[in-house]
Amino acid sequence: MFNSKFRGRDFISILDFKKNEVEAMLDLADELKRKFKRGQPHKYLEDRTLFMLFYNQSLRTRNSFEAGMTQLGGHAHFLDPDKIYMPALEGEEVAYSTERISDVARVLDRMGHGIAIRMYGDPVGWQNGKANRIVREFADWAEHVPVINMEDDLYHPCQGMADIMTVREHFGRFNGVKFVMSWAYSPSVHKPLSVPHSAIIAAATVGCDVVLAHPEGLELEDRILKATEKRAKESGGSFEITNDMDEAFDGAHVVYPKAWTSKHFIPPIADEPMLEKTEELFAANKHWMCDEEKMKLGADNVKYMHCLPCDRGYEVTDDVIDGPRSIVFDQAENRLHAQKAIMSLLMD
Ligand code: CP
Repeated sequence: MFNSKFRGRDFISILDFKKNEVEAMLDLADELKRKFKRGQPHKYLEDRTLFMLFYNQSLRTRNSFEAGMTQLGGHAHFLDPDKIYMPALEGEEVAYSTERISDVARVLDRMGHGIAIRMYGDPVGWQNGKANRIVREFADWAEHVPVINMEDDLYHPCQGMADIMTVREHFGRFNGVKFVMSWAYSPSVHKPLSVPHSAIIAAATVGCDVVLAHPEGLELEDRILKATEKRAKESGGSFEITNDMDEAFDGAHVVYPKAWTSKHFIPPIADEPMLEKTEELFAANKHWMCDEEKMKLGADNVKYMHCLPCDRGYEVTDDVIDGPRSIVFDQAENRLHAQKAIMSLLMD
């Protein structure tokens, strides 16, 4: 029933989709949200099954996919990689306890209608990009069904879609919206680069004026920065990078302060994860916190965003996240609607 150009495609990065395709997904997400609120049936995926592989913890992602599939008339099947034979790349198999990804993907491909994967950080020893390689390996072998990225070490595209859906709900437009993705301090350095990557890509794709702010040493991946710049040019938006949080917040409509780790202290740039060095870098930048004083630098209608979970008292003060400018629960809610749109289009 939906546009066949989406059917069967993988959803691994927003970069795999053009601006008009992203907008079509957002329009459907809005429609599905309206239907959900009105209690109108929208069982577009009746009798379909989504297999969800979670290598990491999750509150929002698991429950929004699971509830979303139920509301669409299908079923989401939770798979704990420890309780199946751990899917492994060729050459990394261990007899008895693992199964080659090419086999796992082809089995699930025969039984259902989609495979969704979350994997970053510890399960791949913080080798940056390896989880994305594994998600793509699943996609290469799942010949008949889409693979959906529920967050790897490079991208969190479903979060990015919910983020821009929320921006459009609050501002009614993208062009002229200053969207600030800022690093913020956390006592934990176990933070992948996926959320900031996908947030700036998403916002630039639809035409926001994107500003990326971080201390020196916490740069994002070069290829993501280049892609964001290209997307901003194509969409009529803009893209700037600064090492000054106050400068970034000045006149901002959206601020999105969160921690991410240093690519310089994890492989492949470093030989192995350098935890102490990362902690030192983080500790030197404890003042990168979003508080009321910072929020006053923004536009009158500035909104505070965060993908959650957030580190209260570090990344953000309670008065900001619980205050009137915070739209974090709209963001979390929109994970449901954005993903229902993505699944409906891809698994139709
Ligand atoms: N934002 C997000 O992906 O949340 P979870 O880790 O709870 O899924």
